[in-house]
Amino acid sequence: MALVPRVLEARGLDATPPIMKKLKAVGDTGSVAVLEIILHDEIGHVAIGDHWFRQQCAARGLEPEATYLKLIDDFRAPRPQPPLHVEARRAAGFSAAELEVLSRPRKA
Ligand SMILES: [Fe+2]
Repeated sequence: MALVPRVLEARGLDATPPIMKKLKAVGDTGSVAVLEIILHDEIGHVAIGDHWFRQQCAARGLEPEATYLKLIDDFRAPRPQPPLHVEARRAAGFSAAELEVLSRPRKA
């Protein structure tokens, strides 16, 4: 729940708008329309994962946002990289505070 919806699927939220912009620039409005639908649906996928992740954290007495970062490190998952699609991530359940942390540039 932490890593597939909140890392991998959430990455799609960030990656889709720049792809849409490029497709729009070359006049591929049909593909842009398809990606708009996919982006909308993906918010729902991430939101479902977010719901169950937070539910399972609550059941285990874990703080979800620290647990999310720990799981990313424990499983060597890719940490979200800015720029993030903050509006879509907020709609999917990420908190403003969490997004502020994830949006900070990381030191190498
Ligand atoms: Fe999905």
